[in-house]
Amino acid sequence: MGRLHAQHLAASPFAELVGCCDTSPDAAERVPREVPLLVDLEEALATPGLEAVVVCTPPDAHLEAVRGALARGLEVLCEKPLAATVADCREMLELDASSTGRLVAAHLRRFDPRFLALAAEVGEGRVGAPLQLVGSSICPREDAERLAGTVSLACECGVHDIDVMRWLAGDISMVYAEGVDVHPTRGPDAFAATLRFASGVVGALQHSWAMPDESGLDWEFRFHVSGMNGIADIDGRSRGIAVLSPEGGPIYPDTVTWPVVGGQVGGVVAAQDTHFLLGVRDGRPWPLELRDAESAVACAAAIDQSIATGVPVQLQPAAA
Ligand SMILES: NC(=O)c1ccc[n+]([C@@H]2O[C@H](COP(=O)([O-])OP(=O)(O)OC[C@H]3O[C@@H](n4cnc5c(N)ncnc54)[C@H](O)[C@@H]3O)[C@@H](O)[C@H]2O)c1
Repeated sequence: MGRLHAQHLAASPFAELVGCCDTSPDAAERVPREVPLLVDLEEALATPGLEAVVVCTPPDAHLEAVRGALARGLEVLCEKPLAATVADCREMLELDASSTGRLVAAHLRRFDPRFLALAAEVGEGRVGAPLQLVGSSICPREDAERLAGTVSLACECGVHDIDVMRWLAGDISMVYAEGVDVHPTRGPDAFAATLRFASGVVGALQHSWAMPDESGLDWEFRFHVSGMNGIADIDGRSRGIAVLSPEGGPIYPDTVTWPVVGGQVGGVVAAQDTHFLLGVRDGRPWPLELRDAESAVACAAAIDQSIATGVPVQLQPAAA
């Protein structure tokens, strides 16, 4: 994600990308040309004239970068999940409240035209108030190896659906989940969860780190709403294009989320980052509150707890 954000920011007319920071010097090959790579966070945050940062480290390292940036009064866009633990999220909310800067959470689907259309269909009554929400994704096996021990499947992948479900139906009051451990040391590689919302709505989540690395799809997702008046479905596998070539296939190039065409990053990532950059100038509202991002992490943690204990877990409503 750091490579994509950096590539987009380097080309944006709304900002100047003055540096990238990564503890691994290997990141130099992922940094846009002529942009310096620093391996020391404090040195990076001390860059003269710095106004804003985008945090895209693994989730268990978000807090350190957010803490340093907010202490300097910077504007911060932090990748989802806000953090790997609820305790880290709480500290971030406190730091944000006492900073002259502003922290916002990057939940891409809040800028995705498919999910914006879905929310409109719910809100304007054609689908109407949800009765049932179903979300699933199959994420790359390679991600499980790379992220092992830093974040759970529910927090890394499930959090996308959890955020959309809370957006459409409000607070989640109870979860029950079962998981499958392929590698017992890194937590479940697949889980199925049922959710109960405070409003009475029910939900289901199914996620796995099971997408074969050679499949031609980097990841896929599906999302369904049964409403009072109608139903709606998003098929994240459909990208409007399938390519067969002498190299094999089919492959399904991304056309929506972060398509890279002619060296330019477009799609939802570009829309989200541009909204953030314009917000640095004019303070425009962000589509979700920090407590929404915290509640999504809390729900993911409850799923992990339910898998570990075998019993349902109650959730508190998001603090006002
Ligand atoms: N919105 C989406 O759809 C989406 C998709 C993928 C990842 N993400 C999120 O983006 C973030 C990064 O994920 P990724 O897949 O790009 O991870 P990654 O492992 O590919 O990259 C993380 C980078 O951070 C560097 N790093 C690790 N610890 C650091 C630290 N303390 N300070 C500075 N650099 C550090 C690593 O060297 C690595 O280059 C995560 O929060 C992830 O959940 C979002």
